[in-house]
Amino acid sequence: MNQIEIKSSKKTTNLSFVDNIDAVLSLISQSNQIIFVDKTLKASTKALSDFLDERIEDVFLVHRAEENKNLSKAEEAYKFLTEKNINRDHEIVAIGGGALTDFAGFIAATFKRGIRLTLIPTSLLAQVDASIGGKTAINFGNVKNLVGSFYVPNNVVICSSFLKTLDQQEYLNGLAEVIKHAFITSDEEVDFIFNNIDKINKRDEAVLNEIIKKSVKIKADIVVNDFEEKGRRKFLNFGHTFGHGIESSNLVCPIFHGHAVIIGIMMAIKYSMHKKLLSEKKGLKAMDLISSFDFDFSEIKLNPNEIFQFMKSDKKNYNSLINLVLLKGFGEPMLYEEGNPRELQNFIGDFVEEFRS
Ligand SMILES: NC(=O)c1ccc[n+]([C@@H]2O[C@H](COP(=O)([O-])OP(=O)(O)OC[C@H]3O[C@@H](n4cnc5c(N)ncnc54)[C@H](O)[C@@H]3O)[C@@H](O)[C@H]2O)c1
Repeated sequence: MNQIEIKSSKKTTNLSFVDNIDAVLSLISQSNQIIFVDKTLKASTKALSDFLDERIEDVFLVHRAEENKNLSKAEEAYKFLTEKNINRDHEIVAIGGGALTDFAGFIAATFKRGIRLTLIPTSLLAQVDASIGGKTAINFGNVKNLVGSFYVPNNVVICSSFLKTLDQQEYLNGLAEVIKHAFITSDEEVDFIFNNIDKINKRDEAVLNEIIKKSVKIKADIVVNDFEEKGRRKFLNFGHTFGHGIESSNLVCPIFHGHAVIIGIMMAIKYSMHKKLLSEKKGLKAMDLISSFDFDFSEIKLNPNEIFQFMKSDKKNYNSLINLVLLKGFGEPMLYEEGNPRELQNFIGDFVEEFRS
């Protein structure tokens, strides 16, 4: 087992990388642990299913976690914990994707003003992103993650064996964040992905463990030094201003966040080249890398005007300037305030035309 400590001003998280699901289960056999689990996981992982059947009294099952990441499910969870007399000596263990870990984190943060929390993320996105950094949330009305808090888990346990059963596009949804982390970190991180494209596509466990560890360290390092997103943590939004514009214009038929982000990253790269911040050579290498993975963009609607309007109304903008994260090189992200909306609008139009051709 490999361990890292993530120390923040709030508390320390022990991050463990374990080799197999049995080793994960051996960590959650204590009687003071209440297990929140995504029902899909229970159905798809036999060892976990058997284990949970033995502990059924202590299990809070969540079906379709994204749809149920809301106040009415939270009320059910509070009732469950109250009936079981759960107090601050207990611990919530969350097993599932990012929707489940966000939800369970929110419950742990709020029940009795906070009880111990262990996250066992099972999707690639949850392993490299949602379980790192202490953000918890539920959706409210139509707004994602509207209600939540920062609440640092005591433990995060990562096991890449869970990823075997993950749907391919869900896997790529998480890979988008891995690629983003590499782009904002260094040439070496980008080269590691470049040199292992085949193995990443085949979900080779050794390489997966390596990219997950690298990605987690990159995010943890940024988050620890800027917990409340006042400085470097903003670089994690690379590709996200464009990406949110794309996501917002696809609300009728929601798309993967990671797929919107990876198109957003392509736009940010091309815009960095357009602004002569990023060399042609690096820009094309980045575009090549992305196209080595079979992201399915077929259901994504790209309407340049809508994307631009949503970007203009992004809550992160200030003084009517559109805030972007662009790239001067791998490992050289920069904040860029665009004061020439017409130039950006024209660029988006050209990008979409080329993307669809
Ligand atoms: N807290 C944060 O910092 C943060 C960061 C990014 C995303 N998020 C949140 O994370 C959520 C997205 O995470 P996600 O993509 O993991 O979504 P998710 O939890 O909905 O999981 C995606 C799908 O994969 C399934 N799944 C998960 N693990 C599996 C496995 N091992 N095998 C088979 N199926 C599996 C789930 O049942 C679900 O159908 C969103 O709610 C988002 O808001 C939070």
